[in-house]
Amino acid sequence: MKLSSKNGELMFKGIYFRLVATYLSLFMVIVLLISFFMGSIFYNEFTNQVEKELLNACVKTNELMSRYYNNEITREELSAWINAMAYISNLKIYILNPGSTVLHQAEESDPISMDEQIRQDILKVMEGETVERMTSITSNDDDNLAYVGIPLKYEDQISGVIMAFSPITEIEELYGEVIRIIGIILLIVILIGTIAILRVSIKISEPIIEISDYAKKIGKGEQVPDVEFERNDEIGMLASSFNEMKKEIAVSEQMRRDIVANVSHELRTPLTSIIGFIKGILDGVIPDEEHKKYLSIAYDEANRLKELTKDIVDVAKLESGNIELHKEKFDLNELTKEVYTEMEDLVKEKNLDFILEENAENIELDADKSRIRQVLINIINNSLKYTINGHIKIILDKQDNKASIIIEDTGIGIQKDKISYLFDKFYTANNYGDATTGAGLGLNIVKNIIDLHGGKINIDSVVGEGTTIKIII
Ligand SMILES: Nc1ncnc2c1ncn2[C@@H]1O[C@H](COP(=O)(O)OP(=O)(O)OP(=O)(O)O)[C@@H](O)[C@H]1O
Ligand SMILES: [Mg+2]
Repeated sequence: MKLSSKNGELMFKGIYFRLVATYLSLFMVIVLLISFFMGSIFYNEFTNQVEKELLNACVKTNELMSRYYNNEITREELSAWINAMAYISNLKIYILNPGSTVLHQAEESDPISMDEQIRQDILKVMEGETVERMTSITSNDDDNLAYVGIPLKYEDQISGVIMAFSPITEIEELYGEVIRIIGIILLIVILIGTIAILRVSIKISEPIIEISDYAKKIGKGEQVPDVEFERNDEIGMLASSFNEMKKEIAVSEQMRRDIVANVSHELRTPLTSIIGFIKGILDGVIPDEEHKKYLSIAYDEANRLKELTKDIVDVAKLESGNIELHKEKFDLNELTKEVYTEMEDLVKEKNLDFILEENAENIELDADKSRIRQVLINIINNSLKYTINGHIKIILDKQDNKASIIIEDTGIGIQKDKISYLFDKFYTANNYGDATTGAGLGLNIVKNIIDLHGGKINIDSVVGEGTTIKIII
């Protein structure tokens, strides 16, 4: 797969840079913290070591001085011992008397450099204190020095000052070395990390780019193959949801095409006959005395067309959920009686018995009254259409705090295997030719209205015996 599209590159850059930035900043923080702690541990350890050594040298020097005062060793021996000790430990040792005249110095040519700090420290030591300075001072030859000073004691008397100096340039060099090593490690890790992240981001963004390209194509109505990422992660999930979505879009697209085809078919049939009759009259093909008959058929057809367009709009509205129920509390018995009266003439015209059985009075409903009226009319209209003799019966009752409406007819019935399709739009189960065949929208509208009210509807039918529709709402 190529990272070709502009958007794709953007997305790729987005993920890549985000990962790199996160990784690098995290890594830097960790490295800096580690070097800081390591550095300070290292530094403390080192200065402790130097401090111990300096102190030790001072104490030893004091011992040698005592032996010299006790005439156990000569002046030359004293100097030789101190020099040897200083040489081995790379120290400079000075012994000063109270007047700060130098009794011993590291080398003849290396006088102690008396800056203000040292002068102050010498005074402190004279008073009996031990002074340790590990922060570097700069000596004559620009070496960094740490020093320790202790009072020179002989027979519990302070008779001078012993100072030992040690160069600490080494530690600074070592420190620099450590930082260089850390820097190199940092560079290597950044390099490896950046490459690793590049690979990871490509793995993440490739499928996303492909899916996004496909989504764009689908948006334009193009056909695309399934995305194939056999992965057990979020990307795999995205791929399979995408494929799922693609399938659903295809299904609903097919549905849309079917509906358009159905609607235009349903509209064309009555329009064709209306146009035919009018043309027959205009062309003089239909004789004058028949005009009224054909005009009244055309009028009925036009009315049917009007009802049909209303139903189509209803179906669309109810399906999209784009409908507001105007709920109100009303008496179901009263509404049913109104509908009964409205339909009575039509039923009686067909010589059918029309029965209203009220097993409960004052059944209160909190519902959209005009929609419930529509439900009743649609169902009774069906019974009327598909019943030749016998009766149509409406039974009202209460059931578990709900209303129960049963509409029963002794019509032609519906085959068992067709019952489950009756709520589909444009589905018709019986074909009688144009006069009785409807568009197959009535029950779809009924079902949607009942669903919107949270009710239940059930159809029971036996071919040749009749149909019973029960609503609980
Ligand atoms: N009481 C009934 N007796 C026998 N068949 C019925 C009955 N009610 C519905 N049907 C069958 O169910 C089909 C679907 O009914 P529906 O009310 O949805 O559509 P329709 O009556 O054909 O058309 P429309 O209601 O849109 O004018 C009908 O075409 C008919 O075949
Ligand atoms: Mg109908």
